[in-house]
Amino acid sequence: MTISKRVQNINPSQTLAITGQALKMKQEGKKVISFAAGEPDFGTPENIKEKAISAIREGFSHYTVSSGIIELKEAILEKLKQDNKIKYKTSEIMVSNGAKQCLFNAILTICNPGDQVLLPTPCWVSYTEQIKFAGAIPIFVNTYQEEDFKLSAAQVEEKITSGTKLLILNSPNNPTGAVYEQEELIKIAQLLLKYNIYCICDEIYEKLIYDNVKHFSLASLSDEIKENIITINGVSKSYAMTGWRIGYAAGPEEIIKGMSKIQGHSTSNPNSIAQKASVEALNGKQDTIEEMRKAFDERRKYMVRRLNEIEGISCLTPAGAFYAFPNVSKILERGIEYSGKKISNSFDLSNFILKEAEVALIPGSAFEAEGYLRLSYAASLEDIKEGLDRIEKILRF
Ligand SMILES: Cc1ncc(COP(=O)(O)O)c(C=O)c1O
Repeated sequence: MTISKRVQNINPSQTLAITGQALKMKQEGKKVISFAAGEPDFGTPENIKEKAISAIREGFSHYTVSSGIIELKEAILEKLKQDNKIKYKTSEIMVSNGAKQCLFNAILTICNPGDQVLLPTPCWVSYTEQIKFAGAIPIFVNTYQEEDFKLSAAQVEEKITSGTKLLILNSPNNPTGAVYEQEELIKIAQLLLKYNIYCICDEIYEKLIYDNVKHFSLASLSDEIKENIITINGVSKSYAMTGWRIGYAAGPEEIIKGMSKIQGHSTSNPNSIAQKASVEALNGKQDTIEEMRKAFDERRKYMVRRLNEIEGISCLTPAGAFYAFPNVSKILERGIEYSGKKISNSFDLSNFILKEAEVALIPGSAFEAEGYLRLSYAASLEDIKEGLDRIEKILRF
């Protein structure tokens, strides 16, 4: 008996391997500092928690409509209209257990086995595996530090074939923090229309953006382009609600219907209590986002400055999200000796930093980008300072 080929084909998460090791070291009493987190270190705002408690007390504990309660869909509609200037109908919206499930539903709905999906790298770990799970083929399009890790329309066009079905754009980006500007997106949109390609716009970090950079939603460009776009967002990052598991998708009715069918047969509906809490997140006061964003901004500047002060590291200042993505290729070229061998890749370097500095971070290879590391600044300034002191010490020539 063997497990299915589909599952054999999926790679285990490198992120989980590192965070698992860090947890083990913590349990052994070591003072591990973690820059591995993919979530805000803030708590969910009180007004949101209160609405969840009321929902429990009022007995809102049954299955809901598979694609989400109407109250939440209306809150999402309003949010997309106000913040993103995109007008949808409720039949074009669905709610899932996290943006991750929305992405999974969307990729399975759009892709046939053998279809090609253009994936700009560095990219978030789960896209690749979800594409493979659907039997589709990830086609990596590399972006470069010298170009602020942004994809040009020419690069996209070069990779388009008759088998290209979908492009995945993530802005602000995890892990690079890159944010696409309107003009850059317009050029990409023209290609989507010319070659009739769908595009998933993952906008989960939309609210965490710095230096007066403006977020632009591709679907807001025109009614025509809207037919090719599935906009994905959620409450996880903006409202510090990662554990609540609520994400949403907006797109053409036919795609949303397909996605709802999959969800109806897999997880039924998103958690009922969390849906009520998310209505409050979207409709209630928004000032906690700004408090969190300001704290991230301060940490971002500090972390990037400290990283650039380490010999052999160069780090762009990310425009969004909460990650720094330093280039460590000069350190790898230097070939630090550790455990009888030379460290020549980002995974071994992360392991070295974890063991010797007791700082957890994620290797660039997890994001299809060798020669880089990802450090989350969703940690206290005190921890960021201490963690960077430790890293600096062990990487010194
Ligand atoms: C780029 C990106 N998209 C989607 C998600 C998933 O978010 P959710 O918690 O809503 O499933 C994450 C989480 O790390 C992410 O980094």
